[in-house]
Amino acid sequence: SQAWAADIELAKKSTLEGILQRGELRVGFEAGYMPFEMTNQKGEFVGFDVDMAKEMAKAMGVKLVPVNTAWDGIIPALLTDKFDIIMSGMTVTQDRNLKVNFPSPYIVVGQTIILNPKHKDTVKSYKDLNDPKYIVTSKLGTTGEEAAKNRIPKSTYKSFESEQEAFLEVMNGKADAYVYDQPNQVVLMAQQGASAGMIFLDQPFTYEPLAWAINKGDPDFLNWLENFLAQVKNDGRYERIYNKWIKG
Ligand code: ARG
Repeated sequence: SQAWAADIELAKKSTLEGILQRGELRVGFEAGYMPFEMTNQKGEFVGFDVDMAKEMAKAMGVKLVPVNTAWDGIIPALLTDKFDIIMSGMTVTQDRNLKVNFPSPYIVVGQTIILNPKHKDTVKSYKDLNDPKYIVTSKLGTTGEEAAKNRIPKSTYKSFESEQEAFLEVMNGKADAYVYDQPNQVVLMAQQGASAGMIFLDQPFTYEPLAWAINKGDPDFLNWLENFLAQVKNDGRYERIYNKWIKG
């Protein structure tokens, strides 16, 4: 039918043309991953990725439409066109890269560990946790979970739906260690961990480039993003956002 033919035409066009026609940049992320995306007290989405998404929409001359999506469904949602791009602190993994394209990373992080205070003198590295007597937590479907399972394979792993729950389990003494991306742990330590005497093993033990993710087969969009990233990294916009959320 006509409609079907029109759909095919649209699908052949780049994501970029769709964004410009619609006048909207639809960005998928999962709020809760401080300091990259979270909901403030007014119910607004804020964070590093959100500010970068605002700059991106502004550079395109379109409106930003944030789409908050559960982490375990975020790649399927991109693949089925629920939004144009994932900006959600996603680590570039070889497995994910089979399904999506990643432009160059916008930051490099790694896994670190927050320990319950009772392990102050006994646990000095992730390697010391490699024993079934230790309960290690992280978030479902993340590289934190992968790191816990692969790098501390003998520990007892416990998965949570959110960063906050995985952290609280350790703070409440029901688990021993929370494994996650370093910038998230820096915020949790500053907000609640340090005052509760939690121990921060802050040397990353994995290499994790974080990048935006888009659908495969779209060189026009990839090209635009590469050049946008290079521009913001060098004209002060990246630095301003970085200093606001990460460095500060
Ligand atoms: N960097 C980690 C990963 O890619 C965690 C990202 C979690 N992001 C989020 N918005 N909850 O698995």
